Order: sequence, then C-alpha cells, then structure tokens
Amino acid sequence: MAPERERGVWGSKIAFILAASGSAIGLGNIWRFPMITGKSGGAIFVFIYILAVVLIGFTVLLGEITIGRFSQKNPVGAFKFIKPGTKWSLVGYLGVLTGIFILSYYAVIAGWTLGYFVKFLTGSFRGEITTDITNRIFSQFTSSPITVLIYFFVIIGITTYIISRGVKGGIERWSKILMPVLFILIILLAIRAITLPGAEKGLLFYLKPDFSKLSGKILLFAIGQAFFSLSLGMGTMITYGSYISKRDNLVTSAGWVAFSDTLIALLAGFIIFPTLFAIPGISPGEGAGLVFKVLPLVFSKLPGGIIFGALFFLLLTIAALTSTISLLEVPVAYLVDEKNWTRTQAASLTGLITFLLGIPSALSTGANSFLTKINFLGWIDFLFGNISLAIGALFICIFIGWIWGVKNASKEVEKGNPQFKIKKLWAFSVRFLSPIAVLIILIFIKTIVG
Ligand code: TRP
Repeated sequence: MAPERERGVWGSKIAFILAASGSAIGLGNIWRFPMITGKSGGAIFVFIYILAVVLIGFTVLLGEITIGRFSQKNPVGAFKFIKPGTKWSLVGYLGVLTGIFILSYYAVIAGWTLGYFVKFLTGSFRGEITTDITNRIFSQFTSSPITVLIYFFVIIGITTYIISRGVKGGIERWSKILMPVLFILIILLAIRAITLPGAEKGLLFYLKPDFSKLSGKILLFAIGQAFFSLSLGMGTMITYGSYISKRDNLVTSAGWVAFSDTLIALLAGFIIFPTLFAIPGISPGEGAGLVFKVLPLVFSKLPGGIIFGALFFLLLTIAALTSTISLLEVPVAYLVDEKNWTRTQAASLTGLITFLLGIPSALSTGANSFLTKINFLGWIDFLFGNISLAIGALFICIFIGWIWGVKNASKEVEKGNPQFKIKKLWAFSVRFLSPIAVLIILIFIKTIVG
C-alpha cells in the first residue's frame, strides 16, 4: 500500500507532549478564554475554570489518551475495538461530526488572526492607537465578506495540505519550533499590560472573585471551556494518544499538557484585562471581537510594537493551525483507518465540507445582517464547542468508568507508569465526579440558557 496509509508513532514522549499541547493551545486560550471570562464576570469564572481543569479536564484527558494508546485507533475504531458490536462507536461518530463543526468556525477566527498579521505588516496600526480606531478596524475587517472568506479559505487550505502529508511530517515539526517563541511573547505582553497606568482595576476584575455571582451558567461555561481548551470530548486526544509509545508515562504527559495549556490561557487574561481597564472604551463582555480590539492597544504601548504585533499574530495563526490540524485529524484518521481512504482524499473532502459549513459563520460578524443578528457563530460555538463536547466527555467517562472498566484502563496507564499514584483519585473522578458534574450542567441547560 502507499506509504501514507501507515500509522505513525511520535518520535518520543516530548514529541507527544509538544504535539498535544499544540492541539490544546490555540484560539481557545487566547481568543475564547478571555471572551468567556469577560462575559462571565471575571475572577469568579477564572476560579471555577481552574477547578474544572484540575478535577474534570485532567480526568478526561488521561482517559482519552489511555483509550487511544490501548486501541491504537481513531475514536470510532477505538470504541469498536474495545467493545465490538455495541453502540459505543456512536461516541466516535459524534466526535467526527463535532470536529468538523468546530473547525468550521474556528478556522474563521484563525482567518481573522492571519488578517491581523497582514494588517500589522501593512501599517494599519501605525501611530497613535485608540479604542475608536481598534473598534473601527475590527468592524470594517469582519464585515467585508470577500476578505473574511479569503482568509478563512487560506486557513482551511493550509490545514488540509498539512494533514494530507501525514502525522510526523506535518504536526510534529510545526509544534516543536514555534510554541516557545509564542510563550516568550505572551510573557512580554503580560508584563507590559500589568504595568500600564490604571491596570489595577483590570487585575481586580480578573483575580478577585465575587462568590455571590456564582451561577449554573458559569459552571456550564467553565466546564465547557475546559474541554474546549484541552481539546477533549470529541476524540482528538484519543487520536493523539493512539500514536504514543507504550513506554511513555501517560499521567505526567497529560499533566504537562494540562499545565501548559492552562498557563497560556491565564497569561492571556493578564494581557487582556489590565489593558481593557487601563484604556477605557471596550467592554469586557464584548464577545468575539474582544481580543482583536484590545491587543492592538497593548502593542501601541510597546517600543517596536508594530513588529511585535505582526510577529504575535503570525505565531497565533500558527498556534491556531496546530489546533485546526488536530480538529481535522479526527475525521481524516477515521476515513483512513476505517474506510481505507488515502490521507489526501480524506483531507480534501473533509476540508471542502468544513469550508462550506463555515461560510455562514464567516458572514455572521457584520457581512450578512441576518446571520449577524442571530449571532450564528456564537450559537455554533455554543452548541458544538460547549454542549457537544460535554456530551462526548460524559460518554467517555461512563465508558471508561463503567463499561471498559477502570481496572482495564488502569492496566494500560500502568504500562509506562507502574506506580500510577493517583489511580484511586482518577477512578473516583472518572466514575462519579466528572460524569455527575457534566450530567448536572446538561440537565439544567435549559434553565441555564433560557
Ligand atoms: N483546544 C484548541 C484550542 O484551545 C481547539 C481544539 C483543537 C479543540 N482540537 C479540539 C477543541 C478538539 C475541542 C476539541 O484552541
């Protein structure tokens, strides 16, 4: 058979950690986390979010990579392999579908990021930058249908191309080089933002929780964001786990991924909120435009800001690409493993479908008045980026905790980690804590949303 049909294996443990962090770290951290934090009252959301990552996100992450490494398969194949002849493979199919839908709007936002890189390069942000200017530039940009569609198309095109070239050549190389540079830039920006005159108000908003504001909505969004940011609930990490060597320690690998992902999200908040309060004119509850309106303000306060701005948006585009790749990898791995397609065929078809599905999202921030009014992108993000992932994660927990069994799963974990010190805690969370928490937010969803 053609060499591209072969399944790859990560070169080393660190290669898995870098690639999985590459999937996890992206617009979820730098665009979605500040957006939801801003909408959900700040610090109280941050507090619940951290709890959700530690107690639930980590549990599901370890669960997914364990299923993946044990079965060495894509999500659909993995469930079929562990429980043949049952309906459990539906969880895998749900993941394939969810991946395509998330990618459909995620790539739109990644397109904005690429567009902002070009804007910095071509001088749109030269000179004195005010909130009026960043507001105007953002709405002009996102309401031009041709512009947003072209950038969106470019992102889908690059993603499809990289995916069609296979696991090692594509994903691994990108993740290795660029994450550290992005990290350094983020630290630099956070320092600049925190030292702006008037930043204290932003720090209070971000760090001092008001527990009287706690609500079901915050729980729902915090748990949903934990899944989204860690790339959970749709089989991405099952797929990535399937490429891990049996010698590697799954617990520490999962720990590093969760830690680095959360660190980047929290740092993004340290850039956005101090700036937002130091330079008034943009509201924390702004929505999808929040970071695109706020970031140019920080850059304008930095010597060489134009160059840093261009570099930042370029790196953010690349961080987004390592995530779009992981989203497309799920449907592609399914078609390659289960249907014997070549990677190129699978990537081309799924890429095309994703582009078509994403067109309404691309037009829903000003370009088309109806789609803008109903907030199409916001709803797709809520349905697939929150609800569908939560449903997927719920079933994954039930599957591990009650169907495949924690004993069997633990045996797989113990292959690279004979002690598995947190076995009891993990078992408790996988069987009770995580599924019950997710179930509760799903049952109350109507009251939470309505
Ligand atoms: N986690 C990525 C981010 O934060 C997005 C992402 C990639 C994702 N793969 C996923 C989200 C799978 C949910 C499921 O940007």
